Amino acid sequence: MKKFYIETFGCQMNVHDSEKVIGTLVTDGYKQVETFEEADLVLYNTCSIRDKAEQKVFNRLQNFKKAGKGKTFAVIGCVAQQEGEKIFEKAPHVSLVAGSASYGKLSQLLVQIEKGDKRVTGLTFDANEAFETPMTRRDNPHRAYITIIEGCDKNCAYCVVPFTRGPERSRTSESIIREAHEIVAMGYTEVQLLGQNVNSYRDPSPAGYNFAQILRAVAEVPGMRRVRFTTSHPRDFGKDIVDVIADNPVICNHVHLPVQSGSSRVLEGMLRSYTRDEYMRRIDWMKNCGQDIALTTDIIVGFPGETEADFEQTLSLLDEVEYDSVFSFKYSKRPNTPALSLDDHMDEDEKSRRLSILQEHQRQIQIRRNAGYVGRVEEVLVEGFNKATGQWIGRTGQNKTLNFLHHSGDENLTGTYLHARVTRSGPNSLTGESVVQ
Ligand code: SAH
Ligand code: SF4
Ligand code: F3S
Repeated sequence: MKKFYIETFGCQMNVHDSEKVIGTLVTDGYKQVETFEEADLVLYNTCSIRDKAEQKVFNRLQNFKKAGKGKTFAVIGCVAQQEGEKIFEKAPHVSLVAGSASYGKLSQLLVQIEKGDKRVTGLTFDANEAFETPMTRRDNPHRAYITIIEGCDKNCAYCVVPFTRGPERSRTSESIIREAHEIVAMGYTEVQLLGQNVNSYRDPSPAGYNFAQILRAVAEVPGMRRVRFTTSHPRDFGKDIVDVIADNPVICNHVHLPVQSGSSRVLEGMLRSYTRDEYMRRIDWMKNCGQDIALTTDIIVGFPGETEADFEQTLSLLDEVEYDSVFSFKYSKRPNTPALSLDDHMDEDEKSRRLSILQEHQRQIQIRRNAGYVGRVEEVLVEGFNKATGQWIGRTGQNKTLNFLHHSGDENLTGTYLHARVTRSGPNSLTGESVVQ
């Protein structure tokens, strides 16, 4: 039996793509193995969002080159789509280069290699359907992912995703709802709807659902306990989405709404298509909807031309919103993107300085915010047990980690829901003990 080994880099879209690729390979008679050494076929599902992510992939390929004699190497995902056939020059031991829009043809491409083709590619965007497989090998035992929209048409000035994942394509509401039913039947109680801009969803079928409507429909599937979604783009984030979250207890009180910068001038340069005020209006809807919605975001520091005053506006936005957590990055030059041609690219030291100021600023906000949870009782989904601390690891609806002690018995709580009282807090997690409700 042919054996494959896969490594996944990048965002949840890639994690879920790998689950689908694994499903396809298993259906084709391959067996997944846990180490590189045992495999005949080695796949790297790659990310190119920042230069570092891309370099990691080439380092990995280089490291395994010697040990990989006789093995077939495949580079798939975003670096594959971006670099295309150039990968064969940089890493001649690679036989297959395929982007995410070609995974529907993966079996065919592998057959070509078996027949003796040395260099096979799948790099076209002709697949206008989102990729669906008869079998998906879901890796996360607690949370099932459902892709509802692929690709991105937003063309932010710094970003490679429109090149690596192609234009936006939404799945039909019918196939999404069918998958949600299947997932519950498999025993999952939590799903996460995925898309680079999940809320730009537009049902291509006559039913014509928008994002708020598909969100509600998935939450109403009997047996569903938690519905999450990521990532939302501020431009398409309507009040109807907030209303659906506020009305439906199954939809988790957590919204990830990347802002990128607190300065309207920088946002304009980034081609984000909203101003700081427009972004804040969306935050205000959430703060005033009657639910305690946890807010998280992405920030880029050091975009070309970002002044000290612009950067200070980003810090003041953090104070105004009081995010529960922030993913922050130094601007990284990416191939083909419009921002490359801008003046005033900043040196790395200054970017690093701003990044560490921002991260320390946000740490203080999180310390303050999380302290407000002490004394509260939260429902958690138990994700595992930490032997070193003797605590169970739980996740709240707001997506916070709550490590807690559970005194009675030694039963396995993983995968169950229970309540825990928060007794202590830190910048990144909460600590507590289970309570009987
Ligand atoms: N579609 C989502 C996120 C896409 S990528 C959105 O629009 O919000 C995830 C994050 O990576 C982005 O939100 C951004 O903060 C960061 N990112 C993207 N391109 C980058 C670049 N060239 N340099 C640094 N960070 C980048
Ligand atoms: Fe990239 Fe912008 Fe699309 Fe997000 S919306 S994936 S940042 S181009
Ligand atoms: Fe990376 Fe591609 Fe996701 S570039 S962040 S893996 S869409």
